Amino acid sequence: MTETDEAALARKADHDDYGIAYIKTFPDDLSKFKGLLDDFLRLVPAKSRILDIGCGNGSYVSYMLKQGHDAIGIDISLTMLEEAKKVVPEERLFLMDMHAMEKLGEGTFDCVLSITSMLYANKEYLPRVLKQVYRLLKPGGKFLLMMLEGEGDGLIKHSFGGSEVVTYTTYYQVNELKERVESGGFAIEQERLTNLVVSSHQEISLFCAKNPENA
Ligand SMILES: C[S@@+](CC[C@H](N)C(=O)[O-])C[C@H]1O[C@@H](n2cnc3c(N)ncnc32)[C@H](O)[C@@H]1O
Repeated sequence: MTETDEAALARKADHDDYGIAYIKTFPDDLSKFKGLLDDFLRLVPAKSRILDIGCGNGSYVSYMLKQGHDAIGIDISLTMLEEAKKVVPEERLFLMDMHAMEKLGEGTFDCVLSITSMLYANKEYLPRVLKQVYRLLKPGGKFLLMMLEGEGDGLIKHSFGGSEVVTYTTYYQVNELKERVESGGFAIEQERLTNLVVSSHQEISLFCAKNPENA
């Protein structure tokens, strides 16, 4: 087994535990970020092809399908995907690591969402993950990225649903994150700093567009 395979399996195991705890804590995932998602969806064409990275319990994919969008979700956690299957047709859900999205076709999405999922991407690899998002989007396509404000990365203890789960987590300063995203070829059209989930970290949301000049 290569080092990469081992790292991927470790991430998957972490996220299955994390998934169980997360579902218990946030059974209605959509409500906390619905306003923000609605603001983003107002900017995208009708019937958009949308990829939700780290789709969790599928609530955003389900919501976007009801709005007439052609949405699919990927997640590294089988537990999360099992939960998602309750509200999203199975053929729209894929077990996939965001560090390995090469199988998805180039320029096939109008929009990509990553709401508090890329904060689990390795800091060193974030530029590669962003490069994949850039590749997947059509020219001018939109990307909503939500991360947590703070410093550094490491194994962080999260308390969810009465359990404690330790998982690798990253935090970014606003300018640090913007710099990463712009270096990936995106134009940032809006930025927001919110505290929608009670936590010691604020959420940074960047509404981005694939800059066709960098295509
Ligand atoms: C905090 S939850 C957020 C779920 C949903 N996006 C939301 O906003 O409620 C993070 C999600 O990202 C998924 N995830 C973490 N690392 C991942 C990876 N490397 N590839 C794909 N999904 C990942 C987790 O399994 C989990 O479902």
